[in-house]
Amino acid sequence: MEYLKMNNITMKFPGVVALDNVSFDLRLGEVHVLLGENGAGKSTLVKILSGIYTPTSGEITINGRPVSDLTPKGSADNKIAIIYQELSVVDNLSIAENMFLGKLPTKKKMGITVVDKEFLYAESEKYLKEIGLKKNPSTLVQDISISEKQQVEIAKALCSNAKVIIMDEPTSSLSIDETKNMFKIIEHLKKNNIGIIYISHKLPEIKEIGDRVTILKDGKYVKTLNISDLEVKDLVPLMIGREIKDKFVGTKREIAPDEQPTFVVKNLTRKDGTCRNINFEVYKGEILGFAGLIGAGRSECMEGIFGAKTISSGEVYYNGKKLKIHNPYDAMKQGIAMVTENRRETGFFPNFPIWKEIAVSTSLKKSTLGGFTGMVQTKSEKNIAEKFTKKLSIKCTGVNQMTYNLSGGNQQKVIISKWLAVDSNIFIFDEPTKGIDVGAKSEIYAIMRSMAEEGKTIIMVSSEMPELLSTCDRIIVFRDGEISGIFNSDEATEEKIMLAAVHLS
Ligand SMILES: Nc1ncnc2c1ncn2[C@@H]1O[C@H](COP(=O)(O)OP(=O)(O)OP(=O)(O)O)[C@@H](O)[C@H]1O
Ligand SMILES: [Mg+2]
Repeated sequence: MEYLKMNNITMKFPGVVALDNVSFDLRLGEVHVLLGENGAGKSTLVKILSGIYTPTSGEITINGRPVSDLTPKGSADNKIAIIYQELSVVDNLSIAENMFLGKLPTKKKMGITVVDKEFLYAESEKYLKEIGLKKNPSTLVQDISISEKQQVEIAKALCSNAKVIIMDEPTSSLSIDETKNMFKIIEHLKKNNIGIIYISHKLPEIKEIGDRVTILKDGKYVKTLNISDLEVKDLVPLMIGREIKDKFVGTKREIAPDEQPTFVVKNLTRKDGTCRNINFEVYKGEILGFAGLIGAGRSECMEGIFGAKTISSGEVYYNGKKLKIHNPYDAMKQGIAMVTENRRETGFFPNFPIWKEIAVSTSLKKSTLGGFTGMVQTKSEKNIAEKFTKKLSIKCTGVNQMTYNLSGGNQQKVIISKWLAVDSNIFIFDEPTKGIDVGAKSEIYAIMRSMAEEGKTIIMVSSEMPELLSTCDRIIVFRDGEISGIFNSDEATEEKIMLAAVHLS
């Protein structure tokens, strides 16, 4: 029996039809996956269920009852909980306070109403235990990891008795172990007869965790299938309507015996100790990969190189010349570009149109005013932006659209474009394909390789082993803030990299 039904839902935004007559249903105790390229309408569909958007037309029924104009409160009253692409826990409250946000238990103490802390902690503890999160409920949320924050959101859903839990790209920031743990929690939720709507770009996950899958394409319903009847690769053509090349494998860059590296990092240690004693070199035209578990210190090392965080020692050389980098602007001026990992937090100006967003780094770099510049809208800037929106198939109404109105994955593509457009020599990409659909991923690999062939030097930090193996010339492995291995990609295997990344004892 379908617990939740969405019939013929249409959602129009100015200039965009995000959903065009889409139907979807959910049974209790199943994981129903929503699949589709960036901008296909997945987040919009679930935001309608959580009462954030009111559809232009269409009906929703829950447990056989029609529910019109769902508000966020109405959605919660109907036992629907959502865990967003961007987490929404409150950092400076405790775990327990987050779980009981807006409904803190109270008691009377000498005639005054106070929060009933004993009850609050005991209740929270119960749910934390249920999902296996070993944390004291009084811990502040700012002191726990992303994966734990997510678990708090799930505990919060359980504590509000949710029958439907929606997860929008839950594993995009999780390590392998954290992902496994998340799957265990999902199995537990299924056993408790909770229905789960699951959005992810990671195709192998879908087979592992999903029962049914519904595919959306350009806001339209494509198909609903039983996952046990299909192979992951069958899904790709349904999503993008074309076959993609299996993997991008470029021509490997051979290093001549007497060749000098173009970019050298010596003895880099960060003041906070998150990476220590880092030494490596990269050759012109090379793609150097950085593998490791989440938290191993790769991003931290890149921030140190780029001047975004303080280092206690270390030198950076470009073509034999020592660079003076005190802040990211210095790094940019000297030809280093960096695409950060947390693009949504650090990556873009929320109220810029796409063209301006893409042009901003270029004009910053040209500016002689220490990073301050009066920006002039020029035709060439718009042309560059148009070139990239095509190249990376950014789904938008045009380069005048606001970046914040784009889907999660398309925002990522805009930020990547902005750095590709900068004329730099050294490019640092931190998780460049996070949240990006399969088609655009291979476009990004191809662009990186052609940049390398034009003589740019590229560093790529990635947690996705297959993309490191297929795209990089050499791979450096990090473990606990230090380099633990280095491989030529033709001799590297997932197993060798894993062995270098983990502690065996
Ligand atoms: N608030 C908004 N205003 C205008 N357009 C919007 C708004 N929210 C979404 N859109 C548009 O609706 C379409 C669908 O976006 P949605 O966020 O649902 O995609 P998605 O499938 O979740 O993609 P991704 O995988 O990139 O997260 C996109 O073209 C997007 O630009
Ligand atoms: Mg989305």
